[in-house]
Amino acid sequence: MAGRWAVVTGAAGGIGVAVSLQLAAQGFGVLMLDLQDGALEAGAERVRKAGGTVETMVLDAMSPPAPAAALARAEALGRVDALVNLAGGSGQRPIRTIEEMEDELWDHILALNVTSAFRFCRAFVPGMRARRHGRIVNISSTLARGRKGPVTTHGARLAYSTAKAALLGLTAQLAKDEAAHGITVNAVMPSLILAEQGSRIRDRFEALPAEQKAGMLRDFPTGRAGEAHEVAAVIGFLCSDAASYVTGTGMPVDGGFL
Ligand SMILES: NC(=O)c1ccc[n+]([C@@H]2O[C@H](COP(=O)([O-])OP(=O)(O)OC[C@H]3O[C@@H](n4cnc5c(N)ncnc54)[C@H](O)[C@@H]3O)[C@@H](O)[C@H]2O)c1
Repeated sequence: MAGRWAVVTGAAGGIGVAVSLQLAAQGFGVLMLDLQDGALEAGAERVRKAGGTVETMVLDAMSPPAPAAALARAEALGRVDALVNLAGGSGQRPIRTIEEMEDELWDHILALNVTSAFRFCRAFVPGMRARRHGRIVNISSTLARGRKGPVTTHGARLAYSTAKAALLGLTAQLAKDEAAHGITVNAVMPSLILAEQGSRIRDRFEALPAEQKAGMLRDFPTGRAGEAHEVAAVIGFLCSDAASYVTGTGMPVDGGFL
């Protein structure tokens, strides 16, 4: 793996740090990208302490010039073999009905989750194609199939579900388009994942009324939410050489929820 780099967007988040730790442990140098400067440096420090090689870049994954800037930085570091599009989310405001959904918020959620992933893929695919090797992982969600019951840890759930379903389409088509060039493109579909104390989704979950929390956990056959390292392990596999014949999938990491 010497000299091989992985680029991770949304890398300062609960899942992003776990993915960066996992990929570093597999021998990738990791270029961690995120909006949040402080959290990014703290996450990178954890990866360095674990023995990983890591660089950071503060950027807004939604901004049109971001992918080219990330590509230039990554290519200066070495050979980019993996791209993990993790930047995403559903916004802060709980939206319960379709009438409450404003165009601006709808557009924002799709731009953050889908358009940014598309643009990062568009920037990184040509180099991977030229080298005849690449691993791309997009982060969808079990929400791509919808979920009954009240809005809980998700804000604009309708837009978020739409965006996460669109990522499965992006993944499936790009996988077929690039399969002959040695590039695999997969998505993972996590259910509720609680990273460490202080991570955004865990904080939202902890703030729910006790009955609602218990109800959510009862929905999982495992009786518990997932942990960030459990998603990271699957992403690590999909980024590995061993996953060479796995492409176009939307792999649930959900404790049997779907
Ligand atoms: N935690 C869960 O339960 C869960 C379940 C399914 C899917 N997901 C998806 O996994 C991904 C990571 O989730 P998480 O739980 O780590 O959330 P998180 O909020 O802890 O992390 C998201 C990270 O993305 C960064 N980010 C947001 N907008 C950005 C932008 N425009 N540019 C750059 N960085 C940006 C944030 O700063 C944050 O560090 C998201 O796409 C999320 O939708 C999470």
